[in-house]
Amino acid sequence: MFVKVERDYETMSQRGARIVADLVKQKSDAVLGLATGSTPVGLYENLIRIAKDENIDFSGITTFNLDEYEGLPASHPESYHTFMQVNLFDGLGLSEQQTNLLSGMDIDPVAQCADFEMMIRRAGGIDLQILGIGGDGHIAFCEPGSSLAGRTSLVALHPKTIADNTRFFDKKEDVPRKALTMGVGTILEARSCLILAAGDAKSEVWAQMIEGPVTSQVTASALQLHPWAIAISDRDAAAKLKNLDFYQHIDGELADQPELPLWVFQPELDQRRNSMPTA
Ligand code: F6R
Repeated sequence: MFVKVERDYETMSQRGARIVADLVKQKSDAVLGLATGSTPVGLYENLIRIAKDENIDFSGITTFNLDEYEGLPASHPESYHTFMQVNLFDGLGLSEQQTNLLSGMDIDPVAQCADFEMMIRRAGGIDLQILGIGGDGHIAFCEPGSSLAGRTSLVALHPKTIADNTRFFDKKEDVPRKALTMGVGTILEARSCLILAAGDAKSEVWAQMIEGPVTSQVTASALQLHPWAIAISDRDAAAKLKNLDFYQHIDGELADQPELPLWVFQPELDQRRNSMPTA
């Protein structure tokens, strides 16, 4: 994992947005995996600004979102559909055909989740998956105990996640208790991952994700198994990292290197990377 620490939320967001913008500049048909929640909002704001300032064309990209609440229609103000429309899609001028989100209202979630996996494959796989980390160490809605090989499915939310989400709803009873989410296995198949965290409330799980054991109890720790996971946080979230000085040393030493691996840009290299020798 490439661990990077920025001064504050804004510089963290700028750095994240620069990675996404440079990807789309070099690969106009990039496939982006997107997250909701409070953490990536600054990245999205910066991305919209950079896209305008540098005249970057986003019309060829495809997006897949990590998750959606079960039982909320797309038009609900707290649905992840609405969140994405307001915080990113409108600003980048993305069309409905370019964006893929799970529906919280499908009567057959099992079939829908299988179709979603297929759509990701048909799009050529996700080039860069943006992630946040939950208070219980989750990525997407892969709560403690989720399979680290799990695929997109309907899941029950942890009471801590439900409690964390009450701030967005008028009444406690309105907070969704289930969600549709990519699995950890789905996420690990992305060619690169970018996970962000800010604030001292995240410092404990951030340290567990980076320096703790790989465990289904902190599903974000599965990113230790990913060949190219970038973890950017502000100083507060990084406060409990034991090897912080070393990570900062590495970041400085590799400052002249590209943030994303070559295999994201070169399909041929990616195929070679994934194929087994035949002789
Ligand atoms: C959202 C998602 C979640 C959030 C996580 C952190 O699509 O997948 O895993 O990233 O709950 O949420 P915030 O950023 O609000 O702290």
